[in-house]
Amino acid sequence: MEEVVVSMQHVSKSFPGVKALDDVQLTLRKGEVMALLGENGAGKSTLVKILSGVYKRDEGSLTILGNEVDKDFNTKKAVEAGVAIIHQELNMCQHLTVAENIFLGRELVVGGRLNNREMKKRAKQQLGELGIDNLDPDTTMSELPVGRQQMVEISKALMLNANILVMDEPSSSLSNAEVEELFRIINRLKSEGKAIVYISHRLQELKHIVDRVTIMRDGKFITDGKFEDFSMDQLIANMVGREITNQFPRDVVPRGKKVFEVKNLNAGRMVQNISFEAYAGEVVGLAGLVGAGRTETSRAIFGVDQKESGQIFVDGKEVSIKRPVDAINAGIVLVPEDRKRDGLCTLLSIGDNIALPNLDTICKGGFLGKINKKVENEMIEKGKALLTIKMSGPEVDAGTLSGGNQQKVVVAKWLAQDARVVIFDEPTRGIDVAAKVEIYQIINQLKKQGVAVIIISSEMPEVMGISDRILVMCEGRLTGEVSADEATEQSVLTLAVKFKDKIEDTTVEM
Ligand SMILES: Nc1ncnc2c1ncn2[C@@H]1O[C@H](COP(=O)(O)OP(=O)(O)OP(=O)(O)O)[C@@H](O)[C@H]1O
Ligand SMILES: [Mg+2]
Repeated sequence: MEEVVVSMQHVSKSFPGVKALDDVQLTLRKGEVMALLGENGAGKSTLVKILSGVYKRDEGSLTILGNEVDKDFNTKKAVEAGVAIIHQELNMCQHLTVAENIFLGRELVVGGRLNNREMKKRAKQQLGELGIDNLDPDTTMSELPVGRQQMVEISKALMLNANILVMDEPSSSLSNAEVEELFRIINRLKSEGKAIVYISHRLQELKHIVDRVTIMRDGKFITDGKFEDFSMDQLIANMVGREITNQFPRDVVPRGKKVFEVKNLNAGRMVQNISFEAYAGEVVGLAGLVGAGRTETSRAIFGVDQKESGQIFVDGKEVSIKRPVDAINAGIVLVPEDRKRDGLCTLLSIGDNIALPNLDTICKGGFLGKINKKVENEMIEKGKALLTIKMSGPEVDAGTLSGGNQQKVVVAKWLAQDARVVIFDEPTRGIDVAAKVEIYQIINQLKKQGVAVIIISSEMPEVMGISDRILVMCEGRLTGEVSADEATEQSVLTLAVKFKDKIEDTTVEM
């Protein structure tokens, strides 16, 4: 058995009102990838933040490479001990270049000036060692897709000679091709003897990289062991504490009248001549590879981006949508993809976030100044109950919630509305398996209320599992339609790559 590089024993940590960790243990060995699994709010991020010195533990011990570290352990000491963390929410400096990010805080200096040439050279070399040759270290971070930004973070960690790498949900916003590249790098790091803690809610992908698992639930250690000794059902049962028999519950509701129609919508290269309909009680899935134009389509519909041409009808009446408020007034709701940028005010309280898009209902007589606290509280309670958001209270900042629970708040805040059409863009990203089922149940609920639901999802089992009808997009165009009963992964993928010369994006099975 390989040498133990990290041992955490009896670790506990509380935040005001929440015991995030309660007597947790974790063992990590050289040359292995260990998946840290658990539901949203189970304490995974908190545990790895203790390992990387971001948080201080209240109790318990932490031993790294045989040395027990004291309670004053901090991020600087963690780096010295060879621990690097790639956070759930990437925190690179978007306006700096790749090289500047890699050397941030330990810039190379020559004769009192920054030695930019050397920094660029070394950055390029490090990226090259990861097999990434086509990334210019002079590129500004904000111009890179998330997958590339992550590679820069990994390079940065390796530059610091990290032997213990923590990746907190690295794959959740990557395209299949990017995930494949990430896995290639992880397997390479593993063969070089690095030890990796890997956190993910995409259980299907674990088999490509993982050696062992540690499972947590409600801040407690549940079990650990070899990955191959657990079936998928056992992993889920340990995480959730009960069996989940149906991962994709889909209620069949009789299809009602046409609620929504888009005719010849055009908005730039990614939205070309899109036409489709959606009926009451129906879930229409929009499938396609990352970058197919699905998000752009939803943004054009919702009035976030300008339309060049096209018509939109709700309940048979044409509506003019120039701004999101027009869409909301027409009964259309969009639950956006990027919760940090578009969906959630992390500095506002959870309650305020839920109440925010519903102010007209909450405010008496239309005056924003007069908030009807009673209505507001009812709404918050409704959102909370619908989604079982784990929190100490609605008054705490939304930013302190675990990643998945933040996503639930974004969903909850729209559900308090009475909508005719709800568009979900990647609604379950970063959400644990039990909470996914809850969100699917909410979708079923909306169906029963006669709402037309449109869901954009890159996870093939999800689109296939919950849609009644699937529309496929590629390169800004609709390439076909399949009914849920007839759809196979193959038939959907074939449509999804219709205008692609290469099928590079499709090789990782998810
Ligand atoms: N800085 C903080 N202040 C207050 N509470 C916090 C803070 N960080 C985490 N918590 C709480 O601790 C608990 C565990 O959160 P944590 O982020 O570790 O969960 P997680 O397992 O990473 O979940 P997810 O899968 O959703 O990312 C949650 O109840 C969360 O709200
Ligand atoms: Mg987390």
